Amino acid sequence: MPEEYRLILKHADAPKYSNDIECYMKHGGYKALTKALKLKGKRVEGKGVIPPQEWIREEVKASGLRGRGGAGFSCGLKWSFVDRRSGKPIYLICNADESEPGTFKDRQIIYKDPHQLIEGMIISAYANDVNLAYIYIRGEFVEGAKILNKALDEARKKKFLGKDILGSGFNLEIHVHRGAGAYICGEETGLIESLEGKRAYPRIKPPYFPAILGLYMCPTIVNNVETLCAVKHIVADGSEAFAKLGTPNNTGTRIVSLSGHVKNPGYYEIEVGKATIGELIFNENFGGGLREGRELKAIIPGGSSAKVFKAGETFKMKGKDKKGNPIDKEVDLLDLPYDFDSLMAAGSMSGSGAIIVMDDSTDIVDALSNVSEFYAHESCGQCTPCREGSLWMSKALHRMTHGEGRKEDADYLLNIAQNIQGRTICAFGEACSWPVLSFVKKFKPEFEARGAEDEQRKAEEVSD
Ligand SMILES: Cc1cc2nc3c(=O)[nH]c(=O)nc-3n(C[C@H](O)[C@H](O)[C@H](O)COP(=O)(O)O)c2cc1C
Ligand code: SF4
Repeated sequence: MPEEYRLILKHADAPKYSNDIECYMKHGGYKALTKALKLKGKRVEGKGVIPPQEWIREEVKASGLRGRGGAGFSCGLKWSFVDRRSGKPIYLICNADESEPGTFKDRQIIYKDPHQLIEGMIISAYANDVNLAYIYIRGEFVEGAKILNKALDEARKKKFLGKDILGSGFNLEIHVHRGAGAYICGEETGLIESLEGKRAYPRIKPPYFPAILGLYMCPTIVNNVETLCAVKHIVADGSEAFAKLGTPNNTGTRIVSLSGHVKNPGYYEIEVGKATIGELIFNENFGGGLREGRELKAIIPGGSSAKVFKAGETFKMKGKDKKGNPIDKEVDLLDLPYDFDSLMAAGSMSGSGAIIVMDDSTDIVDALSNVSEFYAHESCGQCTPCREGSLWMSKALHRMTHGEGRKEDADYLLNIAQNIQGRTICAFGEACSWPVLSFVKKFKPEFEARGAEDEQRKAEEVSD
């Protein structure tokens, strides 16, 4: 039976563990930073001696670490895109906005082990020649911001931050910036605009790829809290040790936020791909199953913007197993390994690592209406398809949940969603249209029945 594997949350819930620096150091904290700052250049075949900063970047690439914020993009590759020749300063931003509904993992790290994030950030900054970094934390996390500021002060006093860190000649300052309280502030270019003091309007890519034209039009790295914590462990234990965790191409651990109709909702850290969706929902050491007498109806596997899965779905999976043997088989939803590639192959994504479970008591039209209302409220309004479309979808669904459905509503919703995706400045267009496309396609009879019932009831009212 798969179990939790706690790498990043190792100390989070340990008795007597506190979030102050003394406790962190007693458990080996800041040793990885000391190691990183003492590294000498490394001889690499074909490249000669590379500086320690480049070596750390190579280690992160070799570890296979993929971003934990949503897209699952290779961290090492992202770092390799940074424009290091522009002569401009390079910035590092930690994305602690954690705004994707269903997600509640980054806040656990911040509340319980903030120094782990700070150490990961200092190492990442050192590796990327960054002298000024920011933690952009969601505005509502007032307590989280306080904890981080206290932890940063403690780190400054111990000379892990500031000028000439531990006598290495490396200088770094980290500031906490409280967000503006909108979902779109979590989108990296919207976040950058917000950090610059403006409204969080996402920027168009190209040309505004953060690695080239980011904060103050300078090269910028934006990484999620969990991603930056993983960097600390890659430096502490080596890329090979990290890559041994998880499965090929899906290395390391992942913190899963499990919510909805399970007996034990909560956060669980697993080796990526070592537990299936079914195990996460039903095993005693994870979700513990559904409420008594209930059956599974649907699962949103990666935060509310991920496409929904319907209970009983199967997927044709092709690829290679752990030993490299080819796979070509039909896999049941519950047997899907919880990793980036399997969920993508099944037509959805593991996104922010948030699984939302719905049992058969769920009114699926209501559930989608709830999700759509959120997206209509959060659209920044720059792009017409997103601004208007998200509102039209939400209004139609609101109508349907208030006895005013129409037979053609299902197709109407699909039509709007299809006209949003791929036609917007940022991926919010997909975030608001994917739930509609997947819910309506997979549960079409429920949507059609709702419209038909309402029309019939109204016709009967008129004839009365
Ligand atoms: C609408 C929207 C909201 C997002 N919200 C968050 C968020 O709250 N936290 C986060 O880390 N990434 C969020 N992202 C992803 C970021 O844009 C970015 O890809 C991520 O912070 C990169 O970090 P990573 O490579 O470490 O995953 C969001 C993306 C979109 C499109
Ligand atoms: S897709 Fe939506 S959220 Fe993104 S820029 Fe356009 S209007 Fe704003």
